[in-house]
Amino acid sequence: MRLVKVDKEWQSEHEAYFKEWGSERMVPSSFNLVAQDTYDEYLSELEIRQHGIENWVPNSNYFLINDENRIVAMVNIRHRLNDYLHNIGGHIGYGVRPSERRKGYATLMLAKALKKCKELELKRVLITCDEDNIGSAKVILNNGGIEDEPFHDKDGRVIRRFWIEIKE
Ligand SMILES: CC(C)(COP(=O)(O)OP(=O)(O)OC[C@H]1O[C@@H](n2cnc3c(N)ncnc32)[C@H](O)[C@@H]1OP(=O)(O)O)[C@@H](O)C(=O)NCCC(=O)NCCS
Repeated sequence: MRLVKVDKEWQSEHEAYFKEWGSERMVPSSFNLVAQDTYDEYLSELEIRQHGIENWVPNSNYFLINDENRIVAMVNIRHRLNDYLHNIGGHIGYGVRPSERRKGYATLMLAKALKKCKELELKRVLITCDEDNIGSAKVILNNGGIEDEPFHDKDGRVIRRFWIEIKE
């Protein structure tokens, strides 16, 4: 299993992955293909966002690829926090394709993403999940997450917040 950067060579795989999510809200949103007419437009837009624009802080996007060259999951690493990320989004967002869940891939992918965070010279990262997202909380705890105070948004949603130290 390996992380690869988003690239034109993965277009058909990415499109199939996107389709598999159906009506479920796709996470991370940086991999959502709905807003652009073509894959090239998506890639151009992503390139701009990755450098940081408007509400987007600089960020990196990776596919988790299995030995059959199939995308099984996706991860978005935010290089720094803004107020929204500090309370709700955190440094790292991830999702696994529905047919590949509960096989340990999110846990593995987060471990690989933490190595990318080390390359970015981050000392510790914040990772969040909704209170009822038991799977995501376990993924974070499996990777050494230490729970901080939760955030309560204006609609009453409770967001659990965890820190993970990046090992030297
Ligand atoms: C949450 C999500 C990323 C988990 O991915 P995954 O690959 O299934 O996770 P893992 O297989 O690594 O599972 C980690 C642990 O959580 C448990 N788990 C996973 N999904 C679960 C669920 N829906 N309910 C209860 N436990 C769950 C696993 O059994 C495993 O437990 P263990 O560590 O005791 O063995 C995946 O369900 C997903 O993509 N959901 C939609 C997007 C999302 O919620 N992203 C996270 C946003 S914070």
